[in-house]
Amino acid sequence: MAILLNSPEQVADEHFMMKIKIPGASFFPGQFINIKTSEGTDPLLRRPFSIFDAEGDTATIIIRVIGKGTELLSRMEPGEINVVGPTGNGFTMEENKNLLLAGGGVGNAPLFYLMKELKKRGNRITYIYCSRSASYLFYPEMYEKLADEFIITTDDGSAGVKGFATDVMKDKISAEGYDRVYCCGPDPMMKKTTSLTHKNSPVEVSVENYFGCGVGLCVGCTVDTVDGYKRACVDGPVFDGRKILWENMPD
Ligand SMILES: Cc1cc2nc3c(=O)[nH]c(=O)nc-3n(C[C@H](O)[C@H](O)[C@H](O)COP(=O)(O)OP(=O)(O)OC[C@H]3O[C@@H](n4cnc5c(N)ncnc54)[C@H](O)[C@@H]3O)c2cc1C
Ligand code: FES
Repeated sequence: MAILLNSPEQVADEHFMMKIKIPGASFFPGQFINIKTSEGTDPLLRRPFSIFDAEGDTATIIIRVIGKGTELLSRMEPGEINVVGPTGNGFTMEENKNLLLAGGGVGNAPLFYLMKELKKRGNRITYIYCSRSASYLFYPEMYEKLADEFIITTDDGSAGVKGFATDVMKDKISAEGYDRVYCCGPDPMMKKTTSLTHKNSPVEVSVENYFGCGVGLCVGCTVDTVDGYKRACVDGPVFDGRKILWENMPD
């Protein structure tokens, strides 16, 4: 049985940090865990959350409160917690490469663990951290410390560069060829990132669409790709950005 080790700690507006010990588990960047947010039937389905960081068999996640499940999680007491996972594929690891990572909102969460593992492998990392506003930035100093180059963008200009991550990315990509680009955020951001990335560089995105069962049975998480329909919960959540038929992603 998994154990929630802390009372969820508020780390930014609407965002909370939770540390969860899953005895015997090991983690890989890009994977997620499925959490049952109530003991009863409301909400009935588990909710998926990316691994923000991991140490041994303990994962740290960041939850943004947007509905009933996340609201219940943000008030959970330390102790037993009903978790399935970690599950899902993960990002491709590189060594000694020049890489660009770009996150939007809570989509920055899986990229912290990814950056940590990529740094251990000698990669140079440019990180673009996009958020709606300064008060929504969680742990920016931790990202800045790990990255070789770190740029914040906010929609309202309250921190860093005013505008979207993709505005900054456009200039960075044309000035510097990256060996691989990684992105997690709203679909329009991942779609634009894919289209901006030089055709010789692979681009990986982690989708955060609606999940049902979370274990491959309900096809509630379908992503339309050039290779046919894929289930994000078992075939993803990390995909080659160029293989997704973005025009068919649900709003
Ligand atoms: C692989 C994966 C990883 C994720 N990682 C994280 C993470 O690290 N941190 C985090 O905070 N969230 C993450 N999410 C999103 C998170 O799972 C949802 O925010 C959560 O399930 C919402 O549950 P709820 O009961 O609070 O909201 P609900 O009551 O289910 O929904 C509240 C409102 O939010 C909308 N909504 C719900 N889920 C989504 C969604 N996936 N996309 C867009 N709108 C939605 C609903 O339409 C509704 O309007 C991830 C999702 C996936 C698929
Ligand atoms: S959520 Fe049910 S198949 Fe993916």
